[in-house]
Amino acid sequence: MSFVLRCIDCGHSAPYFPTVINCPQCSSQWREAEYDYSVIAKNLPAQLPGRLFDLWRYRELLPVRNPNPIVMLGEGGTPLIQAVNLGMMLGCPNIFIKDERQGPTSSFKDRQAAVTIAALKEAGITEMVAASTGNVAISYSAYAARAGIKLWAFVTSLVPAVKMREIALYGSQVVKVTGSYDQAKQVAAEFAHQRGLYLDLGARTITSIEAMKTIAFEIAEQLTSLLGAKAGAQGDAQTIWRSPDWYIQSVSGGMGPLGVAKGSVELKKMGFIDRMPAIAAIQAEGCSPMVQAWKAGAESATPVKSPRTHIETLATGDPGRTYTILQNWVKETHGVFESVSDEEAFRAMHVLAKMEGISAEPAAAVSFAGLFKLVRAGVIKPTDVVVVNCTGHTMPTEPFILGDNWARNVVLPTQATTETPEEGLLAALSRVAPDRFPNVAIIDDSPDARRLIRRILQSRGNYTIYEAEGGKQALTLIEKERPDLIILDLMMPEMDGFAVLDHLKANPDTASIPVIVATAKELTPDEKDRLKGQIQALMQKGDFLSDEFLEEVRSLIR
Ligand SMILES: Cc1ncc(COP(=O)(O)O)c(C=O)c1O
Ligand SMILES: [Zn+2]
Repeated sequence: MSFVLRCIDCGHSAPYFPTVINCPQCSSQWREAEYDYSVIAKNLPAQLPGRLFDLWRYRELLPVRNPNPIVMLGEGGTPLIQAVNLGMMLGCPNIFIKDERQGPTSSFKDRQAAVTIAALKEAGITEMVAASTGNVAISYSAYAARAGIKLWAFVTSLVPAVKMREIALYGSQVVKVTGSYDQAKQVAAEFAHQRGLYLDLGARTITSIEAMKTIAFEIAEQLTSLLGAKAGAQGDAQTIWRSPDWYIQSVSGGMGPLGVAKGSVELKKMGFIDRMPAIAAIQAEGCSPMVQAWKAGAESATPVKSPRTHIETLATGDPGRTYTILQNWVKETHGVFESVSDEEAFRAMHVLAKMEGISAEPAAAVSFAGLFKLVRAGVIKPTDVVVVNCTGHTMPTEPFILGDNWARNVVLPTQATTETPEEGLLAALSRVAPDRFPNVAIIDDSPDARRLIRRILQSRGNYTIYEAEGGKQALTLIEKERPDLIILDLMMPEMDGFAVLDHLKANPDTASIPVIVATAKELTPDEKDRLKGQIQALMQKGDFLSDEFLEEVRSLIR
């Protein structure tokens, strides 16, 4: 590892010391690490196959001289998971989730903490101060515990108590500040100044941006494994890694996208990828200074003094110069800033859990709500390859999302009131659910489409579901089971949906069963005419994310 820090204000290059923050020439705190990219490009590819899939596999591109096992917790190397069901719901098959929940403390901040604490340990630091909206302090605390560094963690009183206790559990000193996050940062800075302690400076911390770069490196390697390498440019025999078309992340201070942008530039400089992903930075509407500045075409963001969002993790009201830097990356990559409401985020969180088995925290759900919005607006195209950063703890917000009726109680009677314990158990269980649920038949030749519809129904209510993969099988099934509702595809080999409908309507026993046609097909006026009077509703498969589909199901079964 050899590199210098280049000042982005005066261009001066100087050696790196973790505790020296300012440029020796102009005092600017905004500097960037610069490596010898041609040498690394030549040597790194041969090294990679022999290294673990963790953050340190890119150690030549990180500002730590001797990665120290004493501090390591298995950071980086998180899975890239294809969101098949979400992809189908959105009509956008190539959606991938960078699953940062699988880091040591379940957030992408573990990268930042791993590299920063390793560098501070190398520099002999034993006590430090950081302000945090929660996850940074949790992550720094875990690594500081291993490194023998005492952390003073300044958090706002809005940070959920469970998160504060987690910080304290790791042995850090929690300092609760009743005020905004920006105020907590000021108090932390003053405290560090008074005591002469090292203060974490967010996006101005070299190690933090450098750590986040590894997200871009990993994604490029993982997409190459999943989708195959690309042929090199201009007839070049060398194959190159794949970068996604979009990288989406929710931002507060903006560290994730800043790191991913820098990592992508480095990959491009080294000839490992041929273009950068478009950066989509998503904020919570109630605290969206960057989005407001972007939409107004302003070069700097006007601070939001009183954030109005339940998602306290994203409550940086004053992004300062970070906005200007991130804005340049977003412009250069033809990306976008967008905001979503808390309600949209909570809804996305619920959809993600039910449809993909992934429980994210509200701050990460903001990215998914942003994805939904950008796909709907046509900004993200159906063929685009999209990676969404996903982080963390769901716990603090579940009550908001689930409402009141999410569990059913089994109260066992006391032995005195029943003959045997078994009898009491059976009686109690009989009250958990009725004997019969509405019956729904799903007729579709695509197993993926059947699974998607089955899952949408399962996740929102109790239904007995039958499936048929073709017209003939469907007719036999419907005769036998007499479902309360049929969900029918139109395009199927052998007997298509139109023919199934003709048969059903010709038989008095099945003619009155309601039918929803669910199709990916753009219908001609002629075909629409053929369906008129025959079916109760027509749903396009890309529309399933709206509640309309379930409303139709419920109203037809009632
Ligand atoms: C899940 C999640 N998303 C986004 C953010 C915002 O990070 P940043 O302040 O670097 O933009 C955080 C911060 O802790 C987070 O935990
Ligand atoms: Zn300078």
